[in-house]
Amino acid sequence: MNATSASDFNFIRELVRRHSAIVLETDKDYLIETRLAPLAKQTGFASLTALIAALRANSAPPQLRKQVVEAITTHETSFFRDTHPFEALKTTVLPELFALRPSANVTLWCAACSSGQEPFSIAMLVHEHFPTLRNRVRIIATDLSGAILARAHAGIYSQIEVNRGLPAVLLTKYFQKQGLQWRIRPEIRQMVEFRQNNLVEPWPSFPPLDLVFMRNVLIYFDLSTKKAILARVRSVLKSTGYLFLGSSETTLNLDNAFEPISIGKSVCYKQRTTISAWKTE
Ligand SMILES: C[S@@+](CC[C@H](N)C(=O)[O-])C[C@H]1O[C@@H](n2cnc3c(N)ncnc32)[C@H](O)[C@@H]1O
Repeated sequence: MNATSASDFNFIRELVRRHSAIVLETDKDYLIETRLAPLAKQTGFASLTALIAALRANSAPPQLRKQVVEAITTHETSFFRDTHPFEALKTTVLPELFALRPSANVTLWCAACSSGQEPFSIAMLVHEHFPTLRNRVRIIATDLSGAILARAHAGIYSQIEVNRGLPAVLLTKYFQKQGLQWRIRPEIRQMVEFRQNNLVEPWPSFPPLDLVFMRNVLIYFDLSTKKAILARVRSVLKSTGYLFLGSSETTLNLDNAFEPISIGKSVCYKQRTTISAWKTE
């Protein structure tokens, strides 16, 4: 089997950046090898170099580029990941949003939702703690990857996946055992609308949003892409709305129109009002 050359790695890096904005540093070459070698096998190529050669010669089936991007993407997620943002939703953010407009819907966008654990965690939280208000909550969940969205849509998880972050009481209440797996119950499944969306392409037309969860995806992008996405988030988020990012992500030095707000052990972001923007100048 031929070794993958530096020029092959560069070709894949550029393909992935063009289609998803994900920046793969050169120290991530091992990722290209380990994630694309199984795809080469599965799609009938003799080796990874043969797959890359077909892509470079434009002789590969059109869907192969998409499969390459999806295979490279990191889908790491878990139920109630990092705990604190969900605590902030429960104690402060949702009560405030419900009180602000007592009869209107509260609309949430879970961007880059991976296999669905994040939007389903929010749906379970609403069901548990705001049972009489759950019909007022609309959760839209999107991801770049059609394959991962199909998994999210099915709402079926392995024992390992439900062991990560999901309290036992919620497992028994909101999941049904199906063979060796667990299927989320319809009342939670139906609270989430899944749609495919690439954050660097045009977005679906959203109603004005009260809450955006965009966690652990900006880390993969370059500075100008992060800035452009945050500016677009502001254009879809209500002035009273909240943005949650991943625990290692921030708007600081990227978009100063967002102001960090600490709630318990969580930091989220709101758009500065004219007065607070003036105070920080
Ligand atoms: C690490 S997971 C984060 C999942 C979840 N938000 C969480 O924090 O647990 C990153 C997700 O971002 C998605 N993604 C990567 N690039 C994207 C893009 N350009 N547009 C939309 N989603 C993207 C991937 O498919 C993947 O499911």
